[in-house]
Amino acid sequence: MRVFTTILLKILGFFVLLQIAVRIIKRFYAFSPPASMGFLLDSDFRKRLQPPDKLIKRSGIKEGMHILEVGCGSGAFTICAARTSGIKGEVYALDIQPRMLMQLKKKLSRPENRDIKNIKLVEGDAHKLPFNDNSFDVVYTVTVLQELPDQNRALKEMKRVLKPGGVLAVSEFLPDPDYPLKSTTIRLGEEAGFFLDKVEGNLWNYTVRFKAQKSM
Ligand SMILES: C[S@@+](CC[C@H](N)C(=O)[O-])C[C@H]1O[C@@H](n2cnc3c(N)ncnc32)[C@H](O)[C@@H]1O
Repeated sequence: MRVFTTILLKILGFFVLLQIAVRIIKRFYAFSPPASMGFLLDSDFRKRLQPPDKLIKRSGIKEGMHILEVGCGSGAFTICAARTSGIKGEVYALDIQPRMLMQLKKKLSRPENRDIKNIKLVEGDAHKLPFNDNSFDVVYTVTVLQELPDQNRALKEMKRVLKPGGVLAVSEFLPDPDYPLKSTTIRLGEEAGFFLDKVEGNLWNYTVRFKAQKSM
């Protein structure tokens, strides 16, 4: 029992030190996880801690919706969003790193995903979204916002491409070295002109949902 506790404490200590080290480095040098980390983002272990079906439901995604995922990475949540929006809906999966998009493309070519036809991969920057105004019912983003150098500009872009009354869902996850408290995410959304709709989840895995316009 004592050996087990020591091992557990060592793992916990390593995790805490790693978090502190990455946070200090990121203060001086902003960087995104390299595409070689894509397999970790899309691992079964993470899915157990941050189940895609729950996150997609919390994000307000429903059948027939037109959706934009900003910073899709290797697509840990994209497949679930596509299956939920169904054949009448579509998901634009946008990322700045082409190699992340390549991983999602590879995942889509697996036999179990070949029936999915409603995902469009887009290489682009969250600060300058390559879409017309009023294009989407939902814009969602998972562990991305804090990585962006100009969060206010990116959020305003998300607002521009949302239809009037559309939903912005921002999800965060504590093991991410950029993890912000809910209050920070709410403040950023409100500063960009969104209205708070609902907060769901817990301290280490939450979604803040905003509306592009005040509900009547
Ligand atoms: C921590 S990863 C999260 C990926 C995915 N959302 C997930 O939770 O598995 C952050 C992602 O945001 C992307 N990203 C960073 N800056 C971006 C930008 N300016 N525009 C679009 N995507 C960006 C990175 O390339 C990376 O794939």
